[in-house]
Amino acid sequence: MRLVAVLLLLATALASAQELPAGPGRDAVMKRCLACHEIDLIVQQRLSTPGWTREVDKMVRWGAVVEPGEREPMIGYLSRHFGVRPAASRPSPADNVEATYKRACLGCHEGDIIEGQRLPRAGWTRTVEKMIRWGAAVDDSEKSSLVDYLAGRFPVR
Ligand code: HEC
Ligand code: HEC
Repeated sequence: MRLVAVLLLLATALASAQELPAGPGRDAVMKRCLACHEIDLIVQQRLSTPGWTREVDKMVRWGAVVEPGEREPMIGYLSRHFGVRPAASRPSPADNVEATYKRACLGCHEGDIIEGQRLPRAGWTRTVEKMIRWGAAVDDSEKSSLVDYLAGRFPVR
């Protein structure tokens, strides 16, 4: 019985390991990130580079051991392979600014934190750019229509 259990565990570990594509940084992820949870928790995420940076740092706060030299390759690896999905699958920006807003702006916080703001267009531009730096998935073609939308809905009173 013991042996069967060990073999099953080993098989699961191998199957999980195969889900990770080859590339620099993979070894660090394998070594450092699978101690507490399965790989599926990681591969199902789609995060930008700032998003993965925050995620890795959060895991370190939660107890993951990451050597200084491993952090950058690890974040690079995660962003390359499990980055935000390409823009091609998104609806066209002009017709769907509301969809863009919901997709890009309501992932990390509720709408109330946004809707409580009253900003001029320049202020909304700065906010959107800040959120992009923090990980919001807004591409260049969507940015200005999103700013117009926000400035129109939440203008200075
Ligand atoms: C010390 C234990 C530990 C280690 C090591 C660890 N994690 Fe986690 N991780 C957790 C816990 C606890 C959760 C909470 C969620 C759960 O289990 O459902 C979590 C959740 C996650 C999630 C899901 C999103 C979230 O924030 O809840 C991702 C993505 C993730 N970890 C990535 C990583 C990466 C990348 C590494 C390697 C740098 C790593 N983890 C190493 C404990 C750990
Ligand atoms: C990757 C996560 C993330 C996404 C996506 C995101 N935000 Fe934020 N946003 C934050 C964080 C973190 C804060 C800090 C405040 C907090 O949660 O208390 C914040 C705060 C804000 C605030 C409050 C004022 C401020 O500057 O702190 C506004 C307004 C805002 N976000 C607007 C937006 C808009 C508009 C979008 C879509 C373009 C967006 N956010 C998408 C993470 C995000």
